[in-house]
Amino acid sequence: MPTLHVELGDRRYPIHIGPGLLNQPDLLRSHLSGQQALVVTNTTVAPLYLDRVRAALTGVRHEALILPDGESYKTLDMLNQVFTALLNHRFDRHCTIIALGGGVIGDLAGFAAACYQRGVAFVQLPTTLLAQVDSSVGGKTAVNHPLGKNMIGAFYQPLCVIADTDTLNTLPDRELSAGLAEVIKYGLIRDLPFLDWLDSHLDALLNRDPAALSQAIERSCRNKAGIVAADERETGERALLNLGHTFGHAIETGMGYGVWLHGEAVATGMVMAADLSARLGWLHPAQVERVRRLLARAGLPLAPPPELTPDDFLRLMAVDKKVQDGRLRLVLLRDLGLGVIAEQVDARLLRETLAAQR
Ligand code: NAD
Ligand code: GLY
Repeated sequence: MPTLHVELGDRRYPIHIGPGLLNQPDLLRSHLSGQQALVVTNTTVAPLYLDRVRAALTGVRHEALILPDGESYKTLDMLNQVFTALLNHRFDRHCTIIALGGGVIGDLAGFAAACYQRGVAFVQLPTTLLAQVDSSVGGKTAVNHPLGKNMIGAFYQPLCVIADTDTLNTLPDRELSAGLAEVIKYGLIRDLPFLDWLDSHLDALLNRDPAALSQAIERSCRNKAGIVAADERETGERALLNLGHTFGHAIETGMGYGVWLHGEAVATGMVMAADLSARLGWLHPAQVERVRRLLARAGLPLAPPPELTPDDFLRLMAVDKKVQDGRLRLVLLRDLGLGVIAEQVDARLLRETLAAQR
């Protein structure tokens, strides 16, 4: 069982990755703070995995809050439901909030932990590929606003991440593909050997080969942990993790949360970022084609929804956390395996990219 660490000084924490980890009660218990725990999960994940977590919490006063499932529920209303549950159960500031689920539950429960009584302990039990390779690591927590994705949130690190890779056996194929988008992202922004590995192991990943999945999760987490340790609050290189996200968030917000999966929107956004990088002369068309081919093989969409016009994109992209003083900043590719933050994006080329995808 590989255990990595996110090196954040006295907030250093482990990421445990492996099969059957939810069946090891001592693992979760060793990371609990205090004697009260609220498990936050949803209607899909609870019937599958809540019993195992409850078993691990024997002897700890614990409650479960089962929220409705979906990106459209990553809202301030649901956040308030977490606070109501905590208060109803008289949980004090020594409680631990445990997120059991995908990125939606992890982001929302993490934000609740950041806010409740000015901050309580937080543990991530990610059950989707996307959450195991990305969202459970690094402490970005948030809910959506109707006007913008993840616009209300906080940086708040968990005490630990426990990624039981067996949970991926029940994940729908479409969700597995969505997670692969974020896996491919690491190869594109900083890890060319990993991109090569993905080219040759994608079929094994799609077939849910346990060894291949474990390797992909570990390598992804290693990349993410390295970036977060260097730039926890995204003053610099952490922004690279947003490759494809400015375009992707525009798709998610523009289409209505949950219509496109986050990973699908990111995949299409990465195609658009690669296209723009080629227009800048940074990528060769054959490299763009390689990106497209890999994402297509992973079962991911390459073209944005026809409903969104270039003007829609520009309007939606103006609400992005990377915007600085009204200036759009985009993550692009200087080369495969070399992401960069482009401060000055040529508006004409951007329009060309937006028009070319239609
Ligand atoms: P999700 O949380 O909606 O989960 C996807 C679906 O799979 C849901 O229907 C869920 O109920 C179901 N599910 C979860 N685990 C399952 C399992 N083991 N078996 C069967 N079904 C299961 O989506 P996601 O892709 O995990 O996360 C997307 C969210 O993560 C987005 O809101 C995105 O903004 C956020 N995100 C955050 C970060 C971060 O750094 N905090 C990074 C990337 C993405
Ligand atoms: N997923 C983007 C980040 O964690 O910074």
